[in-house]
Amino acid sequence: MLTPFAANIELLTGSIDLPEQRVVSRTLDDVNGIFETGCHGSEVVYEVFNLDVPEINSELQTCTTRLYPGRVGDEYYMTKGHFHEVRNRSEIYLTTSGVGRLLMATSSGETVVHEMTPGTMNYIPGGWAHRSVNVGSEPLVFFAAYVGDAGHDYATIEKCGFPVRVVAGEDGPTVVANPRYVADA
Ligand SMILES: [Fe+2]
Repeated sequence: MLTPFAANIELLTGSIDLPEQRVVSRTLDDVNGIFETGCHGSEVVYEVFNLDVPEINSELQTCTTRLYPGRVGDEYYMTKGHFHEVRNRSEIYLTTSGVGRLLMATSSGETVVHEMTPGTMNYIPGGWAHRSVNVGSEPLVFFAAYVGDAGHDYATIEKCGFPVRVVAGEDGPTVVANPRYVADA
């Protein structure tokens, strides 16, 4: 049985004041292939700060994400995006800083896009892939909690892409269809 614990999260940066955490850092090299055009380099696109909790169904995984502002071509910096390995596992996000879009899609291509602004709680039901996009000029920071044994399936998104992309249009962030998307048959 776990011992109860508490953490302080810096809302503007997502930093967590606990020593036991696993930090995942994704550079432009790491996310090459998710944008329409290629990207290379050691610049960090986003970081995920994970708290160390057993990956079992009875617990909740929690993390914060700090997604930096930037663009590759006309697309905003975004996360790789994933389904949960156990497909029906759900997740909630709470945005604490910045402005973004949350792209969600089923394996048959049904798509929902929601805004992320400070105070927004996004509920991601089981079965929906999810990807965050920073459409602002400051880091997009959000807290996430999800079922402990959910796991991450990045491969399906790498293979199929997302049905939509968010590009910088004349009137701001614009959601457009992704012609390269193929439904996961
Ligand atoms: Fe997730």
